[in-house]
Amino acid sequence: MSSVLILLSTLLLALHLSDLVSASSAVPSAGPTTAPAAARHDVVMVIFDDLRPVLGAYGDPLASTPHLDAFAQGGHVFTRAYSQQALCAPSRNSLLTGRRPDTLHLYDFYSYWRTFVGNFTTLPQYFKEHGYYTYSCGKVFHPGLSSNNSDDYPLSWSAPAFRPRTEQYMNSPVCPDREGVLRKNLICPVHLQTQPYKTLPDIESVTEALRFVESRKSSSSSSPFFLALGFHKPHINFRFPRQFLARFPLQQFFNYTEDSLKPPDMPAVAWNPYTDVRARDDFKHLNISFPYGPISRHQAAQIRQAYYASVAYVDDLFGKLLAGLDLQQTVVVVLGDHGWSLGEHAEWAKYSNFEVALRVPLIVRSPEFPVTQAKVHRGITELLDVFPTLVDLAGLPSLPVCRHPTDVTCGEGKSLYPQLQGFGVGFWVMDDHVALSQYPRPGMLPTKHPNSDKPKLRNIKIMGYSLRTDIYRYTLWVRFHAQNFSRDWHDIYGEELYDHRVDAGEELNLVPMPEFDDVRQRLRRRLMEAVDLSRFS
Ligand SMILES: *[C@@H]1O[C@H](CO)[C@@H](O)[C@H](O)[C@H]1NC(C)=O
Ligand SMILES: *[C@@H]1O[C@H](CO)[C@@H](O)[C@H](O)[C@H]1NC(C)=O
Ligand SMILES: *[C@@H]1O[C@H](CO)[C@@H](O)[C@H](O)[C@H]1NC(C)=O
Ligand SMILES: *[C@@H]1O[C@H](CO)[C@@H](O)[C@H](O)[C@H]1NC(C)=O
Ligand SMILES: *[C@@H]1O[C@H](CO)[C@@H](O)[C@H](O)[C@H]1NC(C)=O
Repeated sequence: MSSVLILLSTLLLALHLSDLVSASSAVPSAGPTTAPAAARHDVVMVIFDDLRPVLGAYGDPLASTPHLDAFAQGGHVFTRAYSQQALCAPSRNSLLTGRRPDTLHLYDFYSYWRTFVGNFTTLPQYFKEHGYYTYSCGKVFHPGLSSNNSDDYPLSWSAPAFRPRTEQYMNSPVCPDREGVLRKNLICPVHLQTQPYKTLPDIESVTEALRFVESRKSSSSSSPFFLALGFHKPHINFRFPRQFLARFPLQQFFNYTEDSLKPPDMPAVAWNPYTDVRARDDFKHLNISFPYGPISRHQAAQIRQAYYASVAYVDDLFGKLLAGLDLQQTVVVVLGDHGWSLGEHAEWAKYSNFEVALRVPLIVRSPEFPVTQAKVHRGITELLDVFPTLVDLAGLPSLPVCRHPTDVTCGEGKSLYPQLQGFGVGFWVMDDHVALSQYPRPGMLPTKHPNSDKPKLRNIKIMGYSLRTDIYRYTLWVRFHAQNFSRDWHDIYGEELYDHRVDAGEELNLVPMPEFDDVRQRLRRRLMEAVDLSRFS
C-alpha cells in the first residue's frame, strides 16, 4: 500500500470510529451559538408511552392522528429513530440521562442511577441548572424506585412532579362488561362518567400542563420553561373514551400483518410471550397456549383496533395542548419511549429487539428551523440524541460527549442540530450512523417464572444486543453476568440478521444462510465495537 493510501485509510478509520462515539464531531462548524438567557425559547417535550409510529405523518393509512400530523407538517420528522431498550424505565432513564442502559446498569425497574452508578445530570436538570423553570406532568420518568419515588425531584424539576390522581387505576377493575361487572380488561373503551373521578389520567395531565403554561405566561418571572408531558396511552390497558372506536372499523384490522406465527428461524431467546396481555380478565380465560399462542384472528383485530383508538385519543389531547402553546416561541419535541408489536411475529408486547418494539416517532419543531411542509430525515437516530439536540436548540452550552464513566455531565448520543441545519445525510460525510439497542433475558427459552418478558437484574443471564444500520438489523444474544455487568462475546445464545430492503417485517433470519456470512461477520464486529466503545474500554 502506498503511504497516501495508508494515510487515507487511517483517516477513514478515524472518521468511522469517531462516528461511532459522536457523529457531530465529523460535521464541520455546525454547532449552535450559545443564546443569551433572555432570548431563549421555552421547551416542551411530549412523551407517549409505548407509541410506535402509527401516525398519518409516518404514512400509516389506518391511523387517525390529525393533530400530530398537522404538527409534523411544520416540523422535522425523523423516520428512523430507535429506543435503547423496549421497556419503560430503562428507555426513559436512558433518554433523560443521555446514557445507555449498560451505563446506567438499569434493565428492569429497580435501581436509581444516582445511588447505583453515578450522580449523572439529567436533561431537565441541565435546563434547570441553566436558568430554566422545569416541570414534569404525567409519566415522564417511570414512577417508583428507578426515579427515587420522586420523579427525580428536586434535582430534575423546579417543583414536585404532577402525577394524575387517576393513574392508580391503571391495573384496577374499571372496565364495565356487558353485565355491568367491573373487569381488569385489556380492551377497555369507556364512558368517562363511569370512571373514577369521571376522568382519565391523560386528561388530567393535559389540563395540568395547560394550567402550567398559562401560569408561566402571567408570571412575572422572565426565566423560560422546560415542560415535559408524559401521556400514559397507548400503553395497556387500552382504556379510552368510547367515541374513538367509531373511527376504526374492526374489519380493516384483520389483515394487518400476514405474519401470525413465530418465524421458524428465529432463535427462541428472541421471543417474548406477552404475559401481561394474557393476564388481563378478557384474555386470561382464552387459555392461549404458552409460550407461542397464537390468539384468535378476531381478538388480534380487536387489540389493534384498541391500540389505534388509544392513539387517536391521545392525539386529540395533544391537539388541546398545542392550542395552548405559542409555537413561535417554543421548541417542541414529540416521541415514543419504544414501540409495541401488534401481532408481528405473533407477539403482543414490547420486550424484544425487533424493529416494531424499538422504532419510535420522533418529531422536532423549532422556531429556529421553520418549514412549510414536513421535513423528513431518514438518517438513523437514537433516543439518546434527544438530550444533546434539545440543549443545542435551546442555545445552552452544548452537552459534552461522555469520555469517561465517571463524567457527570455528558451524553452518549449525538446532537441532531447539524441535521436540522441541513447538514448530515447527503452531505460530504458518509451517513454511517447506527442505532444500538439491547434486551435482557433470564434464559434461552420463554418462561413465566422468572418472567422472561421483563427479568429482574439478578435473573438476567443473557443480553441481546441489536444493531440497526441503514439496511440491516443484526442482533446477537450473549452471556451476561449480572454480578459485574460484563458480557462474554464468545458465549452465544442466538443470532439474527434481517435485511430491511426486502424484509421490513423481520420475518426471515438470514443467519443460517452461508451467502450472508461476510455481512454477518462484519456486523458482528461493528456491534461489538459499538458496545465496547460505549463502555469506554
Ligand atoms: C449530585 O449532584 C447534585 C447536583 O450537582 C448535587 O447537588 C448533589 O449533592 C450530588 N449528590 C451526591 C450524592 O453527590
Ligand atoms: C431520594 O428520596 C429520598 C426520600 O424520599 C430523599 O431523602 C433523597 O434525598 C432522594 N435522593 C435524591 C438524590 O434526590
Ligand atoms: C384477509 O385475508 C384473507 C386471506 O387472504 C381473506 O380471505 C380475507 O377476505 C381478508 N379479509 C379482509 C377483511 O380483508
Ligand atoms: C380454559 O381452561 C379452563 C381450565 O382448564 C377451562 O375451565 C376453560 O373452559 C378453558 N377455556 C377455554 C375458552 O377453552
Ligand atoms: C464477571 O463475573 C463472571 C462470573 O462470576 C466471571 O466469570 C467473569 O470473569 C467476570 N468478568 C469480569 C470482567 O470481571
